[in-house]
Amino acid sequence: MPREAPWVEKYRPRRLAEIVNQTKAIEQVKAWIEAWLAGKLPKKKALILAGPPGSGKTTTVYALAREYGFEVIELNASDERTYEKIERYVQAAYTMDILGKHRKLIFLDEADNIEPSGAKEIAKLIDKARNPILMSANHYWEIPREIRNKAQIVEYKRLTQRDIIKALVRILHREGVTVPKEVLYDIAKHAGGDLRAAVNDLQTVVTGGTEDAHEVLAYRDTEKSVFQALAQIFATDNAKKAKMATLGVDMFPHELLQWIDENVPYVYSRPGDIARAYEAISRADIYLGRAQRTGSYGLWKYATDMMTAGVAVAGVKKKGFVRIYPPKTIKLLTQSKTERALRDSVVKKIMKEMHMAKLEALETLNYLRAIFENNPEVAAHFVVYLDLDLKEVEFIAGEGEKTKKIWAKSMNIEKRLKREGELEARAREAKKESEEAEEEGQGGISEEELEKAEEEIEPVGKGSRKEKKGKQATLFDFLRKS
Ligand SMILES: Nc1ncnc2c1ncn2[C@@H]1O[C@H](COP(=O)(O)OP(=O)(O)O)[C@@H](O)[C@H]1O
Ligand SMILES: [Mg+2]
Repeated sequence: MPREAPWVEKYRPRRLAEIVNQTKAIEQVKAWIEAWLAGKLPKKKALILAGPPGSGKTTTVYALAREYGFEVIELNASDERTYEKIERYVQAAYTMDILGKHRKLIFLDEADNIEPSGAKEIAKLIDKARNPILMSANHYWEIPREIRNKAQIVEYKRLTQRDIIKALVRILHREGVTVPKEVLYDIAKHAGGDLRAAVNDLQTVVTGGTEDAHEVLAYRDTEKSVFQALAQIFATDNAKKAKMATLGVDMFPHELLQWIDENVPYVYSRPGDIARAYEAISRADIYLGRAQRTGSYGLWKYATDMMTAGVAVAGVKKKGFVRIYPPKTIKLLTQSKTERALRDSVVKKIMKEMHMAKLEALETLNYLRAIFENNPEVAAHFVVYLDLDLKEVEFIAGEGEKTKKIWAKSMNIEKRLKREGELEARAREAKKESEEAEEEGQGGISEEELEKAEEEIEPVGKGSRKEKKGKQATLFDFLRKS
């Protein structure tokens, strides 16, 4: 099954003119590259595109290269191998001719992640290179100074909600789909100026249906960094990058583990790779367990390294858009919480109506399960007797036909009881009247007749509920009565 290309790639502008709301930055970049091409080496040979994530920096470099006919040599600052490559390029720089057939520009993405030890290499590269060098950074001031000094800065603005909505609408148009306006606004608001995040959200929502859009987006809002971190882990084969991905994530390692665990099967497809990823996860789990037992939380670091880097290098990842799912286990916990709540309420009712201690009541619940499974008639009487609601019946009998049948029967019993209850009330009324009449010496209905009437109105299944108070009823009692 071919996976769809990530929209952030599919709809990345190919031309500089399509980049929204960065006019000033684009002008500067163009002027700079044109100086290169005119043979006037600019004062600063390198350019730093600095600004918030998802504002168009990387897009600019590739659109620029396209329009001006450059091949992009991309170096990744947080990739160890980069420095070997840089060595080679420093050597090659002398021989590469900028106006030659295949003119090249060097692009150092995420220059704010450069290791201090690598900074010197890059500074050397800038000095020697005869190619345009572009860098991008989210945090200008985190770029090592020796590099900053050699480069001119071009500032990228944080995109506005309007910019983002415009860009999203354009994508929807080209996809030929629509989403409700509120969803669109929701996405734009949550993105915080990051068009990449917004486009990913849009794809998530369109792929997964808009019904739960708000929920998904709300989740992304609170768990924003974990979505981003996971996307990074699952996009890289680089151990160090994977480790760094979770740095800002405000989450305990065992929670993070659940998130990673949940998403492994969407990322890897080959059984061996999946196995390796789970191997890393279970190692991480072991570290976490040990940390918990011994209180040596230093182990958390190893655990986190295993679950990030260990998983990232486990194999060949699927290409394309990866929808990150929140872990089911967290959902399961909330599910089992309502399950627990239901169990508790049923047990309480058993304790109350059958005057049992908790343990007995729990045991009785198991019997009830068997009865509900095999005998809807009796089960229905229990429903009335214990005054269970539909959710509780479902909890005992499971969802489906069985529950429906038991519930319908119990409604009928209920109705009958109500009628009989009215009868009972009338009989009581009659008895009172006759007693009064007796006192007045007027006679009336005999004692015998009254008793008979009372026997007749004894409600079915309900047993002598009122009398039973204070005395323990067993399941057996109940079965005999019904
Ligand atoms: N100003 C912009 N105009 C149009 N698309 C943009 C703009 N900024 C970001 N995007 C879109 O958002 C995604 C990420 O953009 P990118 O240039 O990689 O961001 P960054 O600034 O983090 O390098 C791409 O799909 C790109 O098409
Ligand atoms: Mg970028």
